[in-house]
Amino acid sequence: MLTITPLSPTDETPLSLLLLADPSIKKVRASLAQGTCYLARLQDKTIGCLVLVPLSQQTIEIMNIAVDPTYHRQGIGTQLLAYAKTMVQREGYATLEVGTGNSSIGQLAFYQKAGFRMVDIQPDFFLLHYDEPIIENGILCRDMIRLQFSHFTGKTTL
Ligand SMILES: CC(C)(COP(=O)(O)OP(=O)(O)OC[C@H]1O[C@@H](n2cnc3c(N)ncnc32)[C@H](O)[C@@H]1OP(=O)(O)O)[C@@H](O)C(=O)NCCC(=O)NCCS
Repeated sequence: MLTITPLSPTDETPLSLLLLADPSIKKVRASLAQGTCYLARLQDKTIGCLVLVPLSQQTIEIMNIAVDPTYHRQGIGTQLLAYAKTMVQREGYATLEVGTGNSSIGQLAFYQKAGFRMVDIQPDFFLLHYDEPIIENGILCRDMIRLQFSHFTGKTTL
């Protein structure tokens, strides 16, 4: 059975997983310092992680979410999103937000399937804030697409 728990001082920080979602170690460390990291474990093996950072009294951001590639497309990411949605509601936030790249085709499908809606674009975010170019699916990652899930409006459409 999958368990999701906050990273404790005795747990190893899942850096290799975190770097799957964000190639910048500087940004990964900054998000760990600002927020809370959660581990998804299957029989003591860490196979996924999630970092949540409060942005305001209303909004919390998914700064990182990653699943070990061996376990992709088995619903683990969806369980991490469900955990984040529960946290948001329990802690009294209204909105869960995430940013992903224009080239992140699978991730855009993943979030929208979970009820997230596109709300904004930050043009050239990745060109301005990352040292190395990021290319995914043969597309240069330039712009950040912001997506939101709200318990008030969020419904999966499928
Ligand atoms: C994004 C990520 C967390 C998804 O985790 P996952 O456990 O594979 O996701 P799920 O199995 O819960 O997927 C749920 C649905 O999302 C969609 N989806 C997920 N990955 C997809 C992909 N690569 N391409 C297209 N659709 C995808 C599918 O509709 C999927 O349902 P289906 O498998 O029944 O078709 C995982 O691919 C990952 O760790 N990627 C690397 C890190 C990363 O990019 N993080 C996000 C940064 S913004």
